[in-house]
Amino acid sequence: MEATRRAVLVGGAAAIAAAALPARAQSITSLGAKAAAKGLTFGASFSVAELDQSYGPAYGAMYAREARVLTSELEFKMGVLRPTADAIDFAPADRLMAFADTHRLGLRGHTLIWNDYLPDWIHALGPREAEDLLEAHIVTVLERYKDRVGSWDVVNEPIGPWDRLPGNLRKGPFLTALGEDYIARSFEIARRTAPGLELVLNEAQTESDDENGATFRSSLFGLVQRLQDKGAPIDAIGLQCHIDSARPYDFAKFAAWVQSLADLGFRILLTELDVNDRALPGDAAERDAAVAKIYRGFLSEVLQVKAVSTLTLWQMADHTSWLYYDAVQKTPRALRRPRPLIYDSGFRRKRAWDAVAEALDAMPARDGAKIR
Ligand code: G3I
Repeated sequence: MEATRRAVLVGGAAAIAAAALPARAQSITSLGAKAAAKGLTFGASFSVAELDQSYGPAYGAMYAREARVLTSELEFKMGVLRPTADAIDFAPADRLMAFADTHRLGLRGHTLIWNDYLPDWIHALGPREAEDLLEAHIVTVLERYKDRVGSWDVVNEPIGPWDRLPGNLRKGPFLTALGEDYIARSFEIARRTAPGLELVLNEAQTESDDENGATFRSSLFGLVQRLQDKGAPIDAIGLQCHIDSARPYDFAKFAAWVQSLADLGFRILLTELDVNDRALPGDAAERDAAVAKIYRGFLSEVLQVKAVSTLTLWQMADHTSWLYYDAVQKTPRALRRPRPLIYDSGFRRKRAWDAVAEALDAMPARDGAKIR
């Protein structure tokens, strides 16, 4: 299958040359295959609504070619699944399953419990109702998808220093209802409902070498230790890694911190990697080169940590990025648009693709990741 696709893509004499290669050499053409050869799972977030756009077929083909696992960008969020108090809309998530089935791709569920981006009706719940919803939601979603979605961001972004609460926890209805215990409780319900799934605690903003990054790192580390002391069934820590060119970074130092987190006994997932090029000067080609350099610098350090089992980007083509969407909303007429990913808006590979490929080729092999 992979050889056929490649032959179609490269065409002519190159296709004939490719067809003459041994099967294994031909198969190492996608990022998913390169990662798998080293025991790492590669993928990206995916949004089924993109399939309805004019570029939908190219979008789908890019994922089928490159990815081994898809993360739901929107389909499992409460705002999509539970638009109102008395309705559940499984249609987008079911459509995601169908796409993944067709292309034999693994799935990561994002996210079961998150104190942000909730439909308004949840903010109006009292503590008891929020507690009941937490349990009912986890059970309902996992019962339906547990045989298909092997890895879950059970709790997303528990840290929010701006709320100035103990432990730097992010405020929201589930924290209000149960205190910090909402986190351990969510993991216990998930494990009880569907033993055998990979249960992940996912957090943002830990990467930068500044006060913000330091606060997120120490807050997350402390939280994880408290959860461990309680015996919360957490298998892995997800680090989002939305790298922002406006912030300072020390990727070697960050990798050392990732190793210290892994040393507590967790697998590590890089769950939402992209590179915001907003502070980079120059034309598109210059910015693409600088973005590629950041991908290379980041991955060449962090992929040295053998506990990193999964690398997922947050989308793969520039115009489908949340950064692009936000930019269009804020400045509809601007000429410059974000270029944070590994494919451009014409689904052409960018220099960042080569940077990721090189990092995957260069990283040490590790044990296989457990994505079904
Ligand atoms: O598609 C609808 C459109 O029909 C409607 O007209 C429009 C009106 O606002 O909204 C569109 O939906 C937007 C959706 O993205 C699709 O683009 C939502 O408003 C917008 O809130 C939603 O944003 C998503 C955000 O999470 C909140 O769920 C982003 O796509 C998604 O990339 C972002 O992902 C988060 C992760 O979950 C957690 N980590 C950070 C990451 C980036 O912010």
